Amino acid sequence: EACERLQRIRSHVRLVPDFPSPGVLFRDISPLLKDPDAFKAAIELLETHLRATYPRIDYVAGLDARGFLFGPPLAQRLGIGFVPIRKKGKLPGPTESVSYALEYGQAELEIQSDAVEPGKKVVLVDDLLATGGTMHAACELMKRLKAEVLECLVVIELLSLKGAEKLQPFRCHSLLQYD
Ligand code: PRP
Ligand code: ADE
Repeated sequence: EACERLQRIRSHVRLVPDFPSPGVLFRDISPLLKDPDAFKAAIELLETHLRATYPRIDYVAGLDARGFLFGPPLAQRLGIGFVPIRKKGKLPGPTESVSYALEYGQAELEIQSDAVEPGKKVVLVDDLLATGGTMHAACELMKRLKAEVLECLVVIELLSLKGAEKLQPFRCHSLLQYD
């Protein structure tokens, strides 16, 4: 059953060559969001994994922008709060920020300094792990706030870019893996 749902999710991820720049194989989740059963299956599998793995989670933190598609429904199902981690300049201060490199560029992530209290247990959520640059920056923000990162959770992991290795010692879990 979980296997069928994973197949359904996988069949709704579209491959777009050379986007947003030449040589990048872009994994487009738009068809997944458009199909209510596939989208629901993704949220439910993420929830099942977290419930089976952690006795207590304080917050789901989602990464701007596609982490905002999966994080809030997941947090609602778990009955816990959602915390946005945003691209620089979007959140009223005081904030912490970290700059980072990603598969196709450079950016800066930001969080409000009071978003997560010290010692709270957080799961970081995004749609996709590529080089891990974005997720690594989010882990660094959690360190600054003295929060505990339980794991980094994504729908899609691009194995060849070795993002999970970059994240160590933080744990990473993905629903779907591509080479
Ligand atoms: C994409 C994706 C991840 C990140 C992964 O976001 O949603 O957040 O790249 O790449 P990395 O592992 O190499 O860091 P993007 O920065 O394109 O922004 P968006 O979510 O606003 O589309
Ligand atoms: N973010 C970084 N790399 C990506 C890729 N190949 N597809 C979709 N989103 C991405």
